[in-house]
Amino acid sequence: MSEARPKIPVYLDFNATTPVDPQVVEAMAPFWTDHFFNPSATYPEAMVVGVAVDQARKALAALLAGDSSSIVFTSGGTESNNWVFHGVWRSRPAHRRRFVVSAIEHPAVMETAAVLASLGAEIVTIPVDARGVIRMDALDAALDERTALVSVMLANNEVGTIQPVAEVARRAHAVGAWVHTDAAQAVGKIPIDVDQLGVDFMTVAGHKFYAPKGIGALYIRPRVSLPALFTGGGQQAGRRSGTEPVPLIVGLGKAAQLAHAWIKNGGPDHQTALRDALQLQLREACPDFTVFGTGANRLPNTVAMAHPAWPGSALLAACPTIRAGTGSACHHPDDTGSPTLRAMGVAPPLARGLVRLSFGRDTTAVDLAVAVAALTQAIR
Ligand SMILES: Cc1ncc(COP(=O)(O)O)c(C=O)c1O
Repeated sequence: MSEARPKIPVYLDFNATTPVDPQVVEAMAPFWTDHFFNPSATYPEAMVVGVAVDQARKALAALLAGDSSSIVFTSGGTESNNWVFHGVWRSRPAHRRRFVVSAIEHPAVMETAAVLASLGAEIVTIPVDARGVIRMDALDAALDERTALVSVMLANNEVGTIQPVAEVARRAHAVGAWVHTDAAQAVGKIPIDVDQLGVDFMTVAGHKFYAPKGIGALYIRPRVSLPALFTGGGQQAGRRSGTEPVPLIVGLGKAAQLAHAWIKNGGPDHQTALRDALQLQLREACPDFTVFGTGANRLPNTVAMAHPAWPGSALLAACPTIRAGTGSACHHPDDTGSPTLRAMGVAPPLARGLVRLSFGRDTTAVDLAVAVAALTQAIR
């Protein structure tokens, strides 16, 4: 994408999914054909494949600053979240029936918690403040010897707010609960150190950081045991049976390596500058736009905004030069609007207006100028 000529329509929905990086495609290529062998086989050709899987595991572990033996490849964020909830439910001591989630979790957490509720779990939902950050007083009230798991996402998918996960982990561990963070929107976008965060489980989704769809991982802290979700041939040290999808795993490893380099080279700072400039331009162009979560630590690539008179889907329909995301209201017109905004206390007319602009590593100031022009013209 060149500075001078944006590619129209400008794609600004990177939180929904990213393209696969060409270097990732290239790294995967030989593993569809020449290196097609089953990584569990013992002849030399297959051992090459096993080595590639190990290298991918190491690359992802390096991105999370964790140990590679803690990484289990899964099909993505949804599976990793399901695994943690069902696994903890099955392995918890009988008196720990309480699962604590934030009010702004992704449906892959919320719906799974609802399934556990139907099995007898007590689900406690922690509210967020007006910026979209969880209320620590409410967390404290939910923590005691009956708490089995606390699950708080690292970065919210709609507004991009980053949650105080390290502090959540410290408090939850003090009562002997396990801690999970759904980091699907954070991995590859901001620096992550699993030890600093102190979590027991972390969800990773490859297609949010230029790896293919259908591959992700669950980080499981050393010495923490989680019963297998899938049983069978005992692959991945018996933790997730099923022949490994080698090309996808190699792609995830390459994407992790690229993300690591991008973060080290100041990618997030560059995006933060773009984001802050975009917010200013939006406000200047149309003072009626509300940008959400501005008082909080947020993902550098995400701007969530709304106009009181426009449902998000209608506003974006009037902006043919951009492709961006809306809240759930666009899928359910009679809905009360974005669940995250509702949890933040935003009233339905504005909550229905959510437009999420989320950009990628190659997004330029010129691309964002196209978005500002499109949105303000549509309003006028
Ligand atoms: C926060 C969060 N968790 C989980 C998921 C689901 O991940 P996947 O699409 O890999 O199943 C997403 C995807 O939108 C997400 O944003």
